[in-house]
Amino acid sequence: MTEVGAPREERIRRTLDHLRNDTTDAFEHTTWFEPEEFTDTAVAKRERDLVFGRVPSIVAHGSEIPRAGDFFTLQLPRNNVIVVRQRDGSVKTLVNLCRHRGAMVEKEEKGRCRLFSCPYHRWSYDTDGSLRTITRDNTFGEAERAQMGLVALPTEERHGFIWVIDDAGAEIDVATWLGPEMDAVLASYNLESLVTVRSEGFDEPVNWKIMQDAFLDGYHIQYAHPNTAAKHIHTNVLAFDDFGRHCRFIAPRKSIDRWIEEDPGDRSLAGHVTETHFLLPNSTLLRQPDHFQLLTFRPHPTDPQRSRMEMRLIVPKVEDTEMTEERWTRLWDKNWEILLAVLHAEDFPLLRDSQVSMASANAGRMILGRNEVANQVFRRGVQQLLAQP
Ligand code: FES
Ligand SMILES: [Fe+2]
Repeated sequence: MTEVGAPREERIRRTLDHLRNDTTDAFEHTTWFEPEEFTDTAVAKRERDLVFGRVPSIVAHGSEIPRAGDFFTLQLPRNNVIVVRQRDGSVKTLVNLCRHRGAMVEKEEKGRCRLFSCPYHRWSYDTDGSLRTITRDNTFGEAERAQMGLVALPTEERHGFIWVIDDAGAEIDVATWLGPEMDAVLASYNLESLVTVRSEGFDEPVNWKIMQDAFLDGYHIQYAHPNTAAKHIHTNVLAFDDFGRHCRFIAPRKSIDRWIEEDPGDRSLAGHVTETHFLLPNSTLLRQPDHFQLLTFRPHPTDPQRSRMEMRLIVPKVEDTEMTEERWTRLWDKNWEILLAVLHAEDFPLLRDSQVSMASANAGRMILGRNEVANQVFRRGVQQLLAQP
């Protein structure tokens, strides 16, 4: 595997040095921010247009719609869409609106179909979006059929993920958006050979950035998760790489502790860390020793104080492991239950309350620390996009 930046084992050893010295990698400066970033409707509109309407973000893993005609529907910040696998293996994202009188063409959350058929007057569309039939055509009169297909959004499948820009007029180029470093990092993981084994979405009364921030945060673990995550993961210790838009950091698990005192020599310490990747604008990709987790955060289409989080467990196919199907299923079910329990019992209540407090008229400004490196990169990236009209 070609390494990007310092070799991984070296970066892991950097976390050991931090544990020995009670230090962590740090950002250049602290950063002030205002509560309006999380409550203001004009800010939210600018984010939808200038962030989500301009840059690629992940909507699913390709394994979730493996066959031609497989689709799912979702609400993006600017468009309600259908994401559908094509006969040639590519993926299209179509605005879920009938070009006759605007009915919602597809109501199901997911499924498989040969065509999309509108429930209002039964016009039908091919899965590539083109208009196939106008019912009672002889009475309808003239319509430019070629211009009347479902509107497509720029979509690309890369590194196993489906990426979409939420604006029909944009052009998508995921590799350029990722930049050479993050593109090479993701390529090295062979994510296209894995499958989504569990996934779920959560609609929360919380701004998407408050949500995203919580899942880039290695500073809160001991305090918000004392009896769960903190038993396994160190707090506030990171080996960090800033790639400009995107970043990654390694956090040591407590199983590494033996090597704080003892010299680990040349042995691999990869089993003792979690590596987090932040993909601007709205994804956290966690690399665990034997699988990945993807967390995505999407603003509500109108309300700055709402968002949807999606969580996915992305794992090797059972046939690529030594496990029986039963053991494989049990392993990921257990993993999933633990993740959900921490999320529902510990993170979500805290973040909902944070949103309530942010809406206080005299909230006052707040501050990000130098130790909150990934949150700094996230905020910097969003601010840069908002600053380019
Ligand atoms: S609105 Fe779809 S067929 Fe009339
Ligand atoms: Fe948390």
